[in-house]
Amino acid sequence: MANEEMFRRWNEQFAAGWVRMQPRLDAQIAPLAEPLLDEVEKGETVLDVGCGCAQTTLALAERVDPEGHVTGIDVARPMLEQAEERARKRGTRNVDFVAADAQTHPLPENTVDRAYFALSPAAPTASVSETPPPAQARRLARCP
Ligand SMILES: C[S@@+](CC[C@H](N)C(=O)[O-])C[C@H]1O[C@@H](n2cnc3c(N)ncnc32)[C@H](O)[C@@H]1O
Repeated sequence: MANEEMFRRWNEQFAAGWVRMQPRLDAQIAPLAEPLLDEVEKGETVLDVGCGCAQTTLALAERVDPEGHVTGIDVARPMLEQAEERARKRGTRNVDFVAADAQTHPLPENTVDRAYFALSPAAPTASVSETPPPAQARRLARCP
């Protein structure tokens, strides 16, 4: 399995702390992620790589609402459970979450308008969003 160590660390070592500290971490991440959200347009389809507990995923979902859609992908199941719970509580319907390694998970070609990498070690050279996405993001997200 690719990124086996990353998978183990995030699931066994870091995830519980991220879930517990989620409100505080959200407050720290939001100012970094928010300027990037302005680029997103209603109706777009967005991939949030390393979505964690979905701070950015849910903000993206609001931006693209109502026709757009956001998929969050992450290796850490405890964080995805928290993400799903948050989406359910908010009544956010235009998101889904995938538990997988973003570097190897097969995605259909050209189905994503943008890829976000908010502090994601899945894409160390693309820690901010870019439009058009950088080559690495295009490979990961399979977008044009
Ligand atoms: C620093 S956290 C960022 C969380 C989130 N982007 C946010 O804004 O709250 C990094 C996330 O990347 C995930 N991650 C690390 N390697 C990954 C990979 N290869 N594929 C998918 N997710 C990965 C971790 O599980 C973790 O949730």
